[in-house]
Amino acid sequence: MKEIITLGIESSCDETSVAVIKNGRDILSNIVDTQIPIHEKYGGVVPEIASRNHIEAISRVTKKALETANIKFEDIDAVTPTYGPGLVGALLVGLSYAKALSFAINKPLIGVNHIQGHIAANYITYKELKPPFLCVMMSGGNTQIIHVKGYTEFEVLGKTRDDAIGEAFDKVARVVGLGYPGGPKVDKLAMQGSPNIKFPETHFENLDFSFSGIKTAVINLNHKDPNINKADLCASFQKAVTNVLIANIKQAIQMTNVKTIALAGGVSANSYIRKEFKNLEEDNIKIYMPDLKLCTDNAAMIGSAGYYNYISGKKDSLNLNAIPNLKL
Ligand code: KG4
Repeated sequence: MKEIITLGIESSCDETSVAVIKNGRDILSNIVDTQIPIHEKYGGVVPEIASRNHIEAISRVTKKALETANIKFEDIDAVTPTYGPGLVGALLVGLSYAKALSFAINKPLIGVNHIQGHIAANYITYKELKPPFLCVMMSGGNTQIIHVKGYTEFEVLGKTRDDAIGEAFDKVARVVGLGYPGGPKVDKLAMQGSPNIKFPETHFENLDFSFSGIKTAVINLNHKDPNINKADLCASFQKAVTNVLIANIKQAIQMTNVKTIALAGGVSANSYIRKEFKNLEEDNIKIYMPDLKLCTDNAAMIGSAGYYNYISGKKDSLNLNAIPNLKL
């Protein structure tokens, strides 16, 4: 079989990343240039600053990705950028660069949905994983349960009605004074606490989520009692949101009879969530979770999803636009 090389390009938020991927599964390079230190002092991502820094980084990061993979532009079979969802200005930088490159080297441009990319992070970590499976997609912008029926065929079974789970983590971190990005800091502090505070867990009849109630409950409790033990607060918050994730995935398994579960998105790096999902394996359920470095935004997962779009025959024109609220 001929090797297919995709060039993944990711710029949907605050990471400029370019990766060279072989046959959708093997990383030849995955360069991630993070802007976290730049946005830290503002307590969150400032979209205009993110766009400007993507512009500054994109050529340098691409050059490094090619050098590390030891390939030339002509070895690329398809240029596969993220075109949504994400911050529109940030997306446009990676997408415009990809369009220019595709035109210059005369190779197809194939847009990738960022959520599809997060799912594909599992294909890199587990060479044997194939659809169908259920995916618990949890990131800074999305929380969904997805029935992955094929590499490019998805059915969203449930989604958040308000905040994404990562937003809730970041907000909790901010109110307890941990700073940005909050998820990893809540994770770390929670290890020293015990989940002895009961927070509301929102359940719906279907597989939807809501995280704004628990977020507000944490903020209110912290206001009422500024001396409350922050580690206990973080551990209790984490436990409540994990209970909801687990309840919904159990319901999704019952509905679909699919017992293979993959986690995806930045929040799937959370150690407590990983542990609790792993415990489900006792019930004859198989759990996959991406390598930690592939949970948060990176171009390797985009190049992998780009490969599956390529072999499915997808090809975009140079008119492809960034779509900030792109759905699966
Ligand atoms: O997937 P991602 O890198 O970006 C989006 O596509 O949204 O997710 C970023 C989110 C942030 O909210 C960050 O706080 C959260 O993932 N996150 C975590 C952990 N690591 C990253 N949340 C909880 N525990 C973690 N260890």
